[in-house]
Amino acid sequence: MSQNGIDFLRDQHRTVETLLDAVSSASPTERGAKFDELRELLAVHETAEELILRPLTRAAIDNGNEIADARFAEENEAKQVLADLEKLDASTGEFLTKFESFAIDVRKHAQNEETYEFAQVEESQDEAALGKLGTALAAAEKAAPTHPHPSAKTTTANLVLGPFASIVDRVRDAIKQAS
Ligand SMILES: [Fe+2]
Ligand SMILES: [Fe+2]
Repeated sequence: MSQNGIDFLRDQHRTVETLLDAVSSASPTERGAKFDELRELLAVHETAEELILRPLTRAAIDNGNEIADARFAEENEAKQVLADLEKLDASTGEFLTKFESFAIDVRKHAQNEETYEFAQVEESQDEAALGKLGTALAAAEKAAPTHPHPSAKTTTANLVLGPFASIVDRVRDAIKQAS
């Protein structure tokens, strides 16, 4: 039996929160690597929400379009801040200050989803539909090629992984091919 897809997304939120803490508490030299882990997970999570969850939100719950649009706007704002963070050296105080405000926004976004979207979608679907959602989300996570080709050698972690926007593009292509 597949995991309830909404529980799957809630679990990913808890992992995102753990990684936000890990970036905040990492030493300056380790911060970049933790930030990369976070960027990978966010790319998979937010893209799967956009492609797999949002159509359900729009179709199945009251004010679904409004709720989906509000979450989408928060995600776009976060993408912008991520792009700004990627331009900074992760070992600096400047990065950490900007990251702390990003972390607050990411937590708030997750809370908004759980309060205004997840509970309502869960309520609107039967067990079989929630299981199907879980299967689609797990397949998306598995298909997501977050790691670049091993030949992409460089000493800067950021360059190996590529910018967030390009990870999202790779994840989006993989999800579309898998569905
Ligand atoms: Fe989201
Ligand atoms: Fe989320």
